Amino acid sequence: LMLRVGVLASGRGSNLEALLRWQEAGILHAEVAVVICNHRGAAALEVARSRGVETCVISYPRTDPVERERAQALVLEALEARRVGLVVLAGYDRVLVPGFLRHWAGRIINVHPSLLPAFAGSLHAQREAIEYGVRISGCTVHFVTEEVDCGPVISQAAVPVLEDDDEATLSARILEQEHSLLPEAVRAIADGRVRLNGRRVMVRVE
Ligand code: GRF
Repeated sequence: LMLRVGVLASGRGSNLEALLRWQEAGILHAEVAVVICNHRGAAALEVARSRGVETCVISYPRTDPVERERAQALVLEALEARRVGLVVLAGYDRVLVPGFLRHWAGRIINVHPSLLPAFAGSLHAQREAIEYGVRISGCTVHFVTEEVDCGPVISQAAVPVLEDDDEATLSARILEQEHSLLPEAVRAIADGRVRLNGRRVMVRVE
């Protein structure tokens, strides 16, 4: 049985694209059932449409808490209506409300462009890594909990920060790793090899 995945995205959609490539290669016991974006201009929508994946736009301002509750209730409904079993945040630039996260607890993951807990909560984790002078950065896939970017870690990849890196070159080097780290995590969850047990990630090795 295929695990039905709902992807939330706000931007470019390269992680979505990577996931769909793994799906098309037939190596995932999972399928993206719907892609939900919070604005019409998200390139991720075109990534989904061009591959025949259903899309949905539910927009709301970043700053209005009432609108956020209302909109995220609609997102939850849209996911439930498609019998989604796993929610993947792939560059979704909105903080999710507690009710939403409680509903999907243990069934929602995120990819972040740093070795968490370094640069948690940052929308410019790669730039901050350079400014900080770290020599090693990377990316993390983790279960999402109410504390932003602080949920239990599923997997990480380390990436060197080079002497002449700028935000763009470091971001590209990290992104390349994200593109296999995220699909691999989805595959492991779909296969039942990774799950959340309370605050701990349980991994079954075969
Ligand atoms: C990635 O860097 C991801 O780590 C972060 O947002 C970016 C999304 O990129 N959460 P894309 O839309 O998947 O290309």
